[in-house]
Amino acid sequence: IPSLKDVFAGDFTVGTAFENFEMNQEADRKLIAKHFGTVTPGNVLKWDSTEPQEGVFDLADSDAAVNFGVENGQQVRGHTLIWHNQTPGWVFRDAQGNRASKELLYQRMQKHIETVVSRYKDVIDAWDVVNEVIDASQPDGLRRSEWYQIAGEEYIEKAFLFARQADPDAKLFINDYNTHEPAKSQALYNLVQRLKAKGVPVDGVGHQSHIRIAFPSLQEIDTSLLKFAALGVEQHITELDMGVYSNDTDRLETFPDTLKKQQADKYKALFELFRKRKNLITNVTLWGKDDGNTWLRSFPVNRKDWPLLFDERLQAKSAYWSVVGTP
Ligand code: XIL
Repeated sequence: IPSLKDVFAGDFTVGTAFENFEMNQEADRKLIAKHFGTVTPGNVLKWDSTEPQEGVFDLADSDAAVNFGVENGQQVRGHTLIWHNQTPGWVFRDAQGNRASKELLYQRMQKHIETVVSRYKDVIDAWDVVNEVIDASQPDGLRRSEWYQIAGEEYIEKAFLFARQADPDAKLFINDYNTHEPAKSQALYNLVQRLKAKGVPVDGVGHQSHIRIAFPSLQEIDTSLLKFAALGVEQHITELDMGVYSNDTDRLETFPDTLKKQQADKYKALFELFRKRKNLITNVTLWGKDDGNTWLRSFPVNRKDWPLLFDERLQAKSAYWSVVGTP
């Protein structure tokens, strides 16, 4: 069967997120090596994994994940440096257990970013420097995370500056979800514009793209891609998957044929859109490869879901064939 990365060669690179256990299972390993030109470690580069205790870096899992990409001849996306989730509580507290000062926070941030980014500077060519910092319901558009509560918008600037210092060659991304929503897209746009005006080294915008069969429309996605073109940033689709439900409560035990067909049609149209916008998009990464190992089986609730291009047995789904073009 055709390799996804070959099908889109000349358009954009195609990637997948993966978990370390997949490196040890031959079928998973082979599928990842065959279809994807880039890989994103799904969890092991996050702060709780790389620096669980202050100054105690545990990089065995991230080393293994990054080496896996190298062995496959793949580019590696670094995900992620600064986030409100999967970050240990100590980061935000001082020795007395009170809220850390801004100075202490920046000291920890610099040490963390410097250590992790410089270690992988020869391999990781793009970093999600900050993840999910937007909250469009706030007047300044910024999420009231612990980062924000201690340091305000400035923490975002510092993160990019520290990352640039640690690796002048890596492309530095700001990554978020629901970027097709007009208010969210606008808030993100405004932030990137402010950062660029200050000379903060933001190279790219990452659209997570955890979408559903029923929404958003391709038109909404396209509008958002075209919007960011005006900022002259690179764009990556960083975490694509297509959940089958339109709410958080439905449950299905099997994947109905009608939904299979709708999903295949939407995946096809979506990749056609990405191809049409190949001058704006340089990478499309799926958040996993097979329905057996998707984060959507535990988020937002435990239920079956079928959001990816390969099924539980690693066989190509209709969605896969519609993307590559049926033989
Ligand atoms: C998810 C992982 O896939 C899960 O294994 C983990 O339990 C939670 O995080 N947005 C992101 C990713 O930026 O880091 C998340 O990854 C999915 C949502």
